[in-house]
Amino acid sequence: MDFFNMLKNRRSVYGLNKNLPVFKDKVFDLVRDSVRYVPDAFDMKSQRVIVVVDDAHEKFWDAVYDELVRATGNPIPRERLDSFAAAAGTILYFYDSAVVNEVRKRYPLYAENFHDWVMQSNGMLQFAIWTGLAEMGVGANLQHYNPVIDKMVAQMFNLPEAWVLVAEMPFGGIAKQPSPKIPEDIDIRVKIEK
Ligand SMILES: Cc1cc2nc3c(=O)[nH]c(=O)nc-3n(C[C@H](O)[C@H](O)[C@H](O)COP(=O)(O)O)c2cc1C
Repeated sequence: MDFFNMLKNRRSVYGLNKNLPVFKDKVFDLVRDSVRYVPDAFDMKSQRVIVVVDDAHEKFWDAVYDELVRATGNPIPRERLDSFAAAAGTILYFYDSAVVNEVRKRYPLYAENFHDWVMQSNGMLQFAIWTGLAEMGVGANLQHYNPVIDKMVAQMFNLPEAWVLVAEMPFGGIAKQPSPKIPEDIDIRVKIEK
């Protein structure tokens, strides 16, 4: 697939199931390669990822539900969370704040920029993996239950304190295709200067 078609093919897919069109190992390799090749400011390699599958995946979304109930003090509808649990797995994105703080100390003139850079490189990684999954026919969407679930995630996966959760990406077979994009006049957002 050419690059433009790969971009076009990446969508937020909410209708996911466990029938992956590829072996799970292909997904794990995509994640490893994306982490290897996606850039970061000062090459600090701040991105961290956990791919959660099988029993751990079911356990994870049950625990997200429990945390949301705890945070709101009310039972909440399960449909949305169940739709994520119905997927084949979830990719958790983090950055390692210990690495970031270490590099930040070496560049005090730019200290305030580091948080933006960390989020930009994490977003690049999310985008690379999301697009790579789409290229394999695997659907995915992007969720943000952090910071509500931060403590639970750290405990569940026994993480170093310095790992900061950024996003959750359920992925799986495509049970329902998303609606086509609404056409837009792209020249409102893009200017060509000569
Ligand atoms: C930085 C970022 C944060 C997002 N957060 C969420 C989210 O928390 N929940 C969600 O359902 N979708 C989230 N999305 C998905 C967007 O709503 C979606 O990408 C957008 O509507 C365009 O649709 P498309 O992905 O099909 O092109 C997020 C997307 C981005 C890039």
